[in-house]
Amino acid sequence: MTERYEAVKEYVYGNLTAVEPERSRNEGIRHITAVSQYAILLAHVRGENAELAGVAGLFHDLYAYVTGIRKNHAAGGAALAKKWLDETGLFTEAEKEAIVGAVYYHSEKQKTHFPLDEILKDADVLDHLFMNPGAVIMGERERAERLMGELHFST
Ligand SMILES: [Fe+2]
Ligand SMILES: [Fe+2]
Repeated sequence: MTERYEAVKEYVYGNLTAVEPERSRNEGIRHITAVSQYAILLAHVRGENAELAGVAGLFHDLYAYVTGIRKNHAAGGAALAKKWLDETGLFTEAEKEAIVGAVYYHSEKQKTHFPLDEILKDADVLDHLFMNPGAVIMGERERAERLMGELHFST
């Protein structure tokens, strides 16, 4: 990946290190890393920007893990991402908008947004699907089935 991706990873992991208890910290690192990787994979499959997809994946649940607050964590995460992106100046305005938008909309799994937004939602659902297939929630079922078709899952 790129240097910019590594810079985001350093920031995100740095914040996750402070998360307590250890179980939440480990799960946060695992889930965020997995979603970022799946987003990169899906971007390649769909011909979208893999770096931006990976970065959006890294930011997507950071707010939830750091604060312990799930409610409105997508909006909280978008604000967090915007602040860091503005401060570092590593990404262009259009890139920032794409990343922040994807984080902002990632909980709206039943709606359809821009391709990068959809990649992040699908990457998130893919991790839920792999980790706990029985618990893929109602709003994610249809999306999960569509993804399994797209990626040619046999089961
Ligand atoms: Fe989330
Ligand atoms: Fe997530």
